[in-house]
Amino acid sequence: MERVPQILENKIMSAGDAALLIKTGMTVGMSGFTIVGYPKAVPLALAESGHARELTVLIGASVGDELDGAMTRAGIVKKRFSYQSNKDMRQAINDGLIGYADMHVSQFPLFINQGTGPEIDVAVVEAAAVTEKGIIPAASVGCADAVVRMAKKVIVEVNQTIPMGISGMHDIFQVGVPPYARIVPIINASDHVGLTYIPCRPEKIAAIVMTDVQDQPAKFKPTTPATEQIGGYVAKFLKDEIAAGRLPADPGPIQSGVGSVGNAVLDSLSASGFRGLTMYTEVMQDAALKLLENGVLRFVSASAVSLEEDSRKYFYEHIDQFKNKIIIRPQEISNNPEVIRRLGVIALNTPIEADIYGNVSSTHVMGNKIMNGIGGSGDFARNARISVFATESTAKNGAISCIVPMCSHIDHTEHDVQVIITEQGIADLRWTTPEERAERIIENCAHPDYRPLLREYLARARAKGGHEPVDLCEAVTFHRRLNETGSMK
Ligand code: COA
Repeated sequence: MERVPQILENKIMSAGDAALLIKTGMTVGMSGFTIVGYPKAVPLALAESGHARELTVLIGASVGDELDGAMTRAGIVKKRFSYQSNKDMRQAINDGLIGYADMHVSQFPLFINQGTGPEIDVAVVEAAAVTEKGIIPAASVGCADAVVRMAKKVIVEVNQTIPMGISGMHDIFQVGVPPYARIVPIINASDHVGLTYIPCRPEKIAAIVMTDVQDQPAKFKPTTPATEQIGGYVAKFLKDEIAAGRLPADPGPIQSGVGSVGNAVLDSLSASGFRGLTMYTEVMQDAALKLLENGVLRFVSASAVSLEEDSRKYFYEHIDQFKNKIIIRPQEISNNPEVIRRLGVIALNTPIEADIYGNVSSTHVMGNKIMNGIGGSGDFARNARISVFATESTAKNGAISCIVPMCSHIDHTEHDVQVIITEQGIADLRWTTPEERAERIIENCAHPDYRPLLREYLARARAKGGHEPVDLCEAVTFHRRLNETGSMK
């Protein structure tokens, strides 16, 4: 199969010429999800020329440094939606140089389709190929389908390093806009319900840029004894639920959160004895490829396949053998709340901090500094059959407790958090009162070094009475101690 059909060959041009289609003040929608399948040549050309400034950039999730990093350093981004993880962009956002707002992964394309945000002037998407019918995406879909649908014109970067065998792995289902939205007919994580390409009329394609630069490979911190312990507790929790008859022997699809902790926790399932599990998740990370290979997993549904360099090479070289084991969906479908609820997905996400009542921050450090964004954690936490948040009990080599009296920023309320797991143990919060939750989280999950401080806080808060014991002044002091001394201890 050819990458560009003859009728579109006249649209092929250099990245510099394609970039000239983008002008100052425009809104640009781009492909890319968890640093996979994002355009590189046109963003780099934009950063280099600097002719188009004050850009509003819409992307479904994080992308590589050639896009977020280069465009930030060139000072051409005015606003960025939605999830990001680039260190220069994060700094610019926290310095107030780039306007940023994050949205739930499932809602971002919905809002684009509803036309509630800025009109998209140009979409720039990476693809394995274009055809007369549309675009065959790379190893992610994210919101590429939504931005292509809503943009006035489309620039396609055809990346010749992506194996053509990827064609057929995508499942592009258009939900539509309420009240006329369609039911998503996914009954099993493996169901294919849509098209294998993003529909796009040839007239809408304004430029095609041929490229051969691969995505920046994912980099995960190695597993540690602590992450192995967390993984062990996750497996134990699931097995105990099965033994107690609260979960069936095949417990249903699993979602695993983005990042090193999520990857390490999933990796630990290798030794769990589970076989033939499925994933209905937002991002398939490195550990999931290994679990597909060793039979712990039999199928993964995701919006992106985000792998380290060696794993990606293996995946691309053996793509045909993964074709009936992986499906790549738009983020509106991979994170669809109705599907997550109906399939009974078990959600495993990573908090930045959790408080003793079960509220969770996934996004901000010390209340004001954004880390990445909420991503899909809210889509899954709110709708999962069981919503688990797993983290090490401390960060920064023990200087910070990840269990605090009151979260300095809340993304997930106590109502969406049913289980907290750290390397210290499991706090099952289901059917517990606020006071019971506080005791379980302190005694089972907080690091022993911080338990006395937290117990002391709980005692003072209890003295104030009320249904959920809170001492606002003391709660703030807990974080202030960290600010002043660099350590909570
Ligand atoms: N206070 C201050 N910093 C903290 C912290 C805390 N309580 N907890 C973690 N951190 C820091 C870590 O020290 C680390 O910093 P570094 O990069 O300078 O080393 C950074 O946050 C990332 O933490 P790490 O332990 O490496 O975990 P991770 O790679 O698994 O990422 C999140 C954790 C929370 C940042 C990441 O999971 C995320 O962005 N989550 C939100 C989106 C989401 O949950 N999506 C799920 C749907 S797929």
